[in-house]
Amino acid sequence: MNLLRQQHNFELRVNPLDRPPTRDEFLHDSKDCEGILVLTSEMINKEFLENSQKLRVVSTYSVGVDHIDVAACTARGIMVTNTPDVLTNATADLAFALILAASRRICEGDRYVRKGNWNSSFSPNLIIGRDLTNATIGIVGLGRIGEAVARRASGFGMKIVYHSRGRLPDAEKVFGASYVTLNDLLRISDVVTLHAPLTAETKGMIGLEQFSLMKKSAIFVNASRGGLVVQKDLEEALQNGMIFGAALDVYEKEPLPQDSPLLKMENVVLVPHIGSATVGARSGMAELSARNLIDALDGRVPKALVNPSVLSQRKAP
Ligand code: DGY
Repeated sequence: MNLLRQQHNFELRVNPLDRPPTRDEFLHDSKDCEGILVLTSEMINKEFLENSQKLRVVSTYSVGVDHIDVAACTARGIMVTNTPDVLTNATADLAFALILAASRRICEGDRYVRKGNWNSSFSPNLIIGRDLTNATIGIVGLGRIGEAVARRASGFGMKIVYHSRGRLPDAEKVFGASYVTLNDLLRISDVVTLHAPLTAETKGMIGLEQFSLMKKSAIFVNASRGGLVVQKDLEEALQNGMIFGAALDVYEKEPLPQDSPLLKMENVVLVPHIGSATVGARSGMAELSARNLIDALDGRVPKALVNPSVLSQRKAP
């Protein structure tokens, strides 16, 4: 906000409410804007673009751009910017925290103590989890965050397999990671963790068929986008013991509805889309999204431009 307030060559309009605007409020207030800085809760689709004829840049305070119709923006000469890199380590830390929480049943243990159920000082069979050392982790999507998870897994002595759009020889060399098909990854991994973007190709890529390939002892982690997973199939897999447990930061519908069956299951760890929720990552996202917006409006090429092909058809400032 400080960076934006210092810009005296444009008028700054800020959502005054302590909540996201309704769609009508959003469409109304952004109608004549040339640049907009949004969260993932705002859908930047054709309806929005039709409504905002003066728009030159959409800066999103996120690395994910699945809430933005990037092709439609490019076709209209509108730049799209995001916040890569600054949240990579925070998100990988959260994914690893979820892996540890699910494999060592941390939240179950916490509930057990709080409920006053702990009545024998040490019991050999209490809350037995899964080992990570020498276990195989399957990373779906070895981009920046997937690679940062691989670095952590390597430190924990895990074997790493991955499935990505293409092979990554550097990661194979540095982490000893092996490229495998998605089905093989699901069959051989003790931990499956998703780090792919949500696109038309990846939507619903993990459903019952995929869960049925996984080991009954496997942990499933998703800190990328809920839409990659068919959630009712995950619920079935957890309920029927097809996998050992899961840990989720993201959901098909957010916030997770209060009647979700997941809320009643012991073998799933649930957190509210907090992958990048650290002081460092959020400050980095704030600064980068503000700078991206300012650069685009001032006619410079923003640091994190998602659709560089737009430059050839850029609207004049
Ligand atoms: C991102 O940056 O994409 C995070 O998921 C926050 O929305």
